[in-house]
Amino acid sequence: MTQLLYMETFGCQMNERDSEIMAQLLGEHSYVQTDTPEQADVVVVNTCSIRGKAAHKAYSCFGRYKKLKEKHHDFILAVTGCVAQQDGAALLERMPYIDIVMGPQSIYALPSLVAAFRRDRKPLVATDLSAEFIIPPFLPNLAEGPAHKRFITIMQGCDNFCTYCVVPYTRGREISRSFADILAEATHLVEQGVKEITLIGQNVNSYGKKGDAAQHKSFPELLRAVAGIDGLKRLRFTTSHPKDLSEDLMRCFAEIPVLCPHFHLPVQSGSNSILKQMNRKYTIESYLDKVARLREYRPDIALTTDIIVGFPGETDDDFAATMQIMETVQYHGAYSFKYSDRPNAKAADFPGKVAEEVKTGRLARLQARQEEIALAFKQAEIGKAVEVMVEGASKAPANQWSGRTGTNQIVNFSCERKLVPGELLVVEIEGACQNSLRGKMI
Ligand code: 5AD
Ligand code: SF4
Repeated sequence: MTQLLYMETFGCQMNERDSEIMAQLLGEHSYVQTDTPEQADVVVVNTCSIRGKAAHKAYSCFGRYKKLKEKHHDFILAVTGCVAQQDGAALLERMPYIDIVMGPQSIYALPSLVAAFRRDRKPLVATDLSAEFIIPPFLPNLAEGPAHKRFITIMQGCDNFCTYCVVPYTRGREISRSFADILAEATHLVEQGVKEITLIGQNVNSYGKKGDAAQHKSFPELLRAVAGIDGLKRLRFTTSHPKDLSEDLMRCFAEIPVLCPHFHLPVQSGSNSILKQMNRKYTIESYLDKVARLREYRPDIALTTDIIVGFPGETDDDFAATMQIMETVQYHGAYSFKYSDRPNAKAADFPGKVAEEVKTGRLARLQARQEEIALAFKQAEIGKAVEVMVEGASKAPANQWSGRTGTNQIVNFSCERKLVPGELLVVEIEGACQNSLRGKMI
């Protein structure tokens, strides 16, 4: 009998892919996704705890499900992701209406956990993190997620221990997935009509170094192999650590035609002393050197970044150095955040915590300047003909479509013909605003 599954996902692309995997796994057991939790037999909340705010969002949504359980029927409530890993059994104590708590490594056990809960009606906790964990082979079922672009998880966990970051404690040790399995999944997706693949992991540059797949295959070798699949139109990857960005990987941008000219390279701070406190293991000079060389290989590459303001001990001068790095690099986009203490992360115990209003002021200045820089990049596109991959029809008006450039900018454009998501076409850019470009198909 068909059962209904409702999923709520917070956080990063790793979580998005994990949610798809859970839906695929339950799909094998006759579960179909619904977009109304009121009807669901199982609700899965996939949480994120990267920053204090993200964890808060998860906690407040648990309260909503409590009310729903009281008002409607007794669906099974499963919580996974980094909040589940971090709080484990304590979550059940504080929120007894949660039925299953499982960490990111345990998502593959979801069907058996649901079955066990149905049988015994006893709360379950599955939060073991093992360094010997192997990412299971892929599921050929393609039912979940968009048809033209997909994420493939190539590694899990992180061994870098940046002092602000909770990830090494919630996702465990860095483990790469088998080269053959990734290729098999990518080939299968392309055979099913997928046009764009994004390889994802916490630090994709160190692919192949740790875990079951420590098999002397590097990330550039993986990129070249996936790029060689006939029919694949676009290849992307995220996320990278600047310290592991090799010359070989830079060269890929010059040599692999389907590799999109976009690189997300989190800098975090423009100050060497803060980078040292963050345990980032690079200096601003070495970062800038890599940026310059990347641009030699691929002059049109769009760089995006992550930045934290108000790390413990950050002075006005340190912040000025971060503002300077924005001027020097000229990022197409930046995700910027106020530092927040995270459980287990070393910086939580560092002295020199920055006052909230100082962090708020710095973030506002940084974001205002970054918006100007990003808008200037968009305005520079006006009059150009750019290649766009169709994402889908805009809600209104008719004959309006939306797509993305290789540099990952959103383009809204007009076209009389009915288009198919994943189609590549050329659009003449006629206008630009903060978040998107506008144009017409030629
Ligand atoms: N406080 C603020 N931002 C953080 N990030 C990670 N941990 C923290 C924290 N404790 C940011 C980093 C990272 C991005 C995913 O989230 O910039 O690259
Ligand atoms: Fe966190 Fe640093 Fe690992 Fe990224 S590289 S997940 S910021 S510890």
